[in-house]
Amino acid sequence: MKTITLINGDGIGPEISEAVVKIIDKAGLEINWDIQTAGADVAEAEGSPLPDRVINSIKKNKIALKAPVTTPIGKGFRSVNVQLRKDLELYANLRPCKNFEGIKTPFQNVDLVVVRENTEDLYAGIERMVDKDTAESIKIITRKASERIADFAFKYAVNNNRNEVCAVSKANIMKFSDGLFLECCRKISEKYPNIQYKEILVDNLCMQLVQKPEKFDVLVLPNLYGDIVSDLTAGLTGGLGLARGANIGENCAVFEPVHGSAPDIKGQNKANPSALLLSAVEMLKYIGEKDYADKIELALLKTLKESKILTADLGGFASTSDFTNEIIKNL
Ligand code: NAI
Repeated sequence: MKTITLINGDGIGPEISEAVVKIIDKAGLEINWDIQTAGADVAEAEGSPLPDRVINSIKKNKIALKAPVTTPIGKGFRSVNVQLRKDLELYANLRPCKNFEGIKTPFQNVDLVVVRENTEDLYAGIERMVDKDTAESIKIITRKASERIADFAFKYAVNNNRNEVCAVSKANIMKFSDGLFLECCRKISEKYPNIQYKEILVDNLCMQLVQKPEKFDVLVLPNLYGDIVSDLTAGLTGGLGLARGANIGENCAVFEPVHGSAPDIKGQNKANPSALLLSAVEMLKYIGEKDYADKIELALLKTLKESKILTADLGGFASTSDFTNEIIKNL
């Protein structure tokens, strides 16, 4: 039986994790979940929000499913999510985005993938107060990380029958940092003559994404733009409740939804477990359990298409538990 680390997170994390574990179990796949807690409560009890045992568990099992973990805003500990990606060198953040039948949005035929660099940029956490009225954050872009993420994006395009990779930057303003990112993407693009290569400025991209999102295929972005743009693309196809994600490195992979811990609906049995479930589907494909992945994804797609039992974020009235049971019924 496969052992997989499960970080069940906080906020809505435990509710959606319980739902996903139940669905996988009912689909007939036995997994030995190595449950690891992280976050604010753990910081209080163990002195760190991300103790070594969590990192060691993922290093040992190679694969983790992760529910969201709250990060204090403007103060307190550094993001567990950012730290985890850094410690495990999970350099590629993959966020596919496609329309779902039954989920009405202003756009049709959206089928794009956000490939976000996951280890540097303004997320390097190099910040200080220069004096009491001036703050400074340093944006780090390296050749190594930029070439690595560009190569990942092109390989992904080749392996997934995609036609185009578009590099996103603000290199007109940040000529050195974003300029280096673009230079690396251009260089890597030469290795992949069968994939079209394009470049776009991030502000223009945002405007075009909310007018003609069907024009885009694979987008490769530095960390911060990738974070923001992937929430935008999640909104194009039904919102955060449906947006899957994966953090991939050379040695390990952590699958997690795009959304956060949604403290506004915590503990109310209202959260949509689909984004975590779809992240788990990607995880199952990654570990070679394609049949179970397809079975679970089809049950979810059927539930969405029928649109009888949907959670509130999708315009319905169902609780997390009712929605989960409907997916199980559709397995
Ligand atoms: P959020 O994604 O938690 O919530 C934004 C809005 O979307 C809220 O109205 C929420 O109710 C709704 N929402 C999100 N997921 C949902 C779901 N599955 N079902 C139904 N509604 C859902 O973003 P927010 O409020 O900015 O962040 C809350 C906390 O989460 C912060 O501490 C943030 O740092 C953390 N966070 C953690 C992430 C992670 O663990 N990877 C990623 C993003 C944020």
